[in-house]
Amino acid sequence: MFYQLTYDLSETERSGVSALLSAADHEFVPPLSARRGTTQKDLLTAAAPADGIAAYFAQLAGQACVLAMEESRVCGFLSFIPDHLLDALTPPLRCDYVSTIVVDPACRGRGITAEMYRTLFSARPGHSAATRTWSQNHAHLAILRRLGFALALTLADDRGPGIDTVYYIRTADA
Ligand SMILES: CC(C)(COP(=O)(O)OP(=O)(O)OC[C@H]1O[C@@H](n2cnc3c(N)ncnc32)[C@H](O)[C@@H]1OP(=O)(O)O)[C@@H](O)C(=O)NCCC(=O)NCCS
Repeated sequence: MFYQLTYDLSETERSGVSALLSAADHEFVPPLSARRGTTQKDLLTAAAPADGIAAYFAQLAGQACVLAMEESRVCGFLSFIPDHLLDALTPPLRCDYVSTIVVDPACRGRGITAEMYRTLFSARPGHSAATRTWSQNHAHLAILRRLGFALALTLADDRGPGIDTVYYIRTADA
């Protein structure tokens, strides 16, 4: 497995990312096909886009990506928006905002996500990182805590009864 950060996906990488994203659609809460984009805030109340996951992928494909590759196959990706102003926090935080992560189910539990985060940190020294997830995503939460992220904001019941949105940040000097 090797890891690379790219600001411009090749056609092969694009289709690998798209395939992983589509296959994982319903693992997300809410599903990605019910969202209009990667930074949408009204996750529970907004109408789903007519074109399903296409709107989400179109945004993601324009972002930067860390790829986990086995030869030319994309086994996992971590998309991020460099130098994003995260205005969900008070005060807003300038950060590399990790918008989406998917690892091929056949490759999970091998530390690929942790390694993609480490690739991001070492490629972007001096930059804070942030992400959000839902409170039942125990696999992602375990990784975030182990990598030095701290809980910055909880939006209770934001994704349904008992399903909170949680924002985590890792400051540049962590
Ligand atoms: C979340 C996800 C990206 C993790 O990918 P991964 O490469 O398997 O992650 P890693 O191997 O780096 O780490 C997984 C860790 O979570 C832990 N874990 C897995 N399931 C868990 C659970 N239900 N409860 C607690 N910890 C769990 C594992 O034990 C492992 O920790 P360890 O290394 O200390 O043993 C992957 O499961 C995935 O693609 N899920 C669907 C999409 C998603 O939820 N993306 C994140 C939200 S943006």
